[in-house]
Amino acid sequence: AQNERESLMIVLGFAARYYQETLKNHEEGRSIGLSYFRERGFTEATLEAFDLGYSLEAWSAFTDAALKKGYQLELLEKAGLTIRKDENKRYDRFRGRVIFPIHNVSGKVIAFGARILRTDPSKPGGAQPKYLNSPETEVYNKSKVLYGLYQAKQAIRQHDVCYLVEGYTDVISMHQAGVSNAVASSGTSLTEEQIRLISRYTQNITVLYDGDPAGIKASLRGIDMILEAGLNVRVVNFPNGDDPDSYLRRVGNAAFKEYLQKSTVDFITFKASLLAADTHDPFRKAEVIREMVESITRIHDPIKRSVLFRQVSNMLEVEEDALLAESNRIRLQQARKE
Ligand code: GTP
Ligand code: MN
Ligand code: MN
Ligand code: MN
Ligand code: MN
Repeated sequence: AQNERESLMIVLGFAARYYQETLKNHEEGRSIGLSYFRERGFTEATLEAFDLGYSLEAWSAFTDAALKKGYQLELLEKAGLTIRKDENKRYDRFRGRVIFPIHNVSGKVIAFGARILRTDPSKPGGAQPKYLNSPETEVYNKSKVLYGLYQAKQAIRQHDVCYLVEGYTDVISMHQAGVSNAVASSGTSLTEEQIRLISRYTQNITVLYDGDPAGIKASLRGIDMILEAGLNVRVVNFPNGDDPDSYLRRVGNAAFKEYLQKSTVDFITFKASLLAADTHDPFRKAEVIREMVESITRIHDPIKRSVLFRQVSNMLEVEEDALLAESNRIRLQQARKE
């Protein structure tokens, strides 16, 4: 199995170089792929730092090149690079897409994310997924991988905080802006393993999810998982419709960094802000307070819990005793379930 893992990583490395080469030197790669990245504002240094590439709009350009180099078809299939329908019908998984290699913590390519160039719903042939990812393989377990961690780990240690974002391009744009301590979960919602991975470098996570209802929902789920894991969590909310990448492009590096500074809030304040429009409705307010208590109850450290109950009590003008009683009720309920 060790041998198989090594062979897979060798062929995945070959594929990454092939897609990079295609982006830089192939006519189609340059006119379509490189133009796409340039339009997004990615510099040459960024393309290099993330090994970005392009896959030709052809059925088996990559597979043919790999076979010619002596890689076995079976290995290409196992690596998730080639799809085989039957004996003589095989094609490349990634075609006509820009390529985002996914690295492990040591910098070896273990999978790919691949984006279509245009999201055009009117395109004939039905809607294609915006991003296509490698399948799970012997070397790629998506729930245990964070996109960008290889490029981010040093900065995460140095700044003692990890920015958690939704997308590949958020990681890349932030890195380009000099905010290198950002990672994304690749093609999955946040997992316990991913949080544990981050905890090797820092105990502080700041969630920067997209400023849309899906992003807010994912933030709330992420907050609870991070608290449960014993880490500290903060949140930056983006204006409706923006993600870190689009916001950065809109306001520029300096304003983006300033926004991070002044808009980072603790999770209680974040939850309170979701309620802001509705503070006059006592029932809605009670509901949000209950959610806050639920989150705080997940924290194992009694001192942190106590500090946070005090904060909620002061901020939302509710008796601390009521919060503690509700917390105990939640605990008993959970104990009964177990
Ligand atoms: P851009 O449009 O390129 O800026 O991408 P984004 O990262 O902003 O995309 P979005 O916010 O829609 O999604 C966040 C992340 O979810 C992406 O980076 C992908 O990892 C993943 N994702 C998005 N769309 C798809 C999809 O169609 N299929 C899969 N498997 N993953 C997706
Ligand atoms: Mn490189
Ligand atoms: Mn989104
Ligand atoms: Mn996004
Ligand atoms: Mn985006």
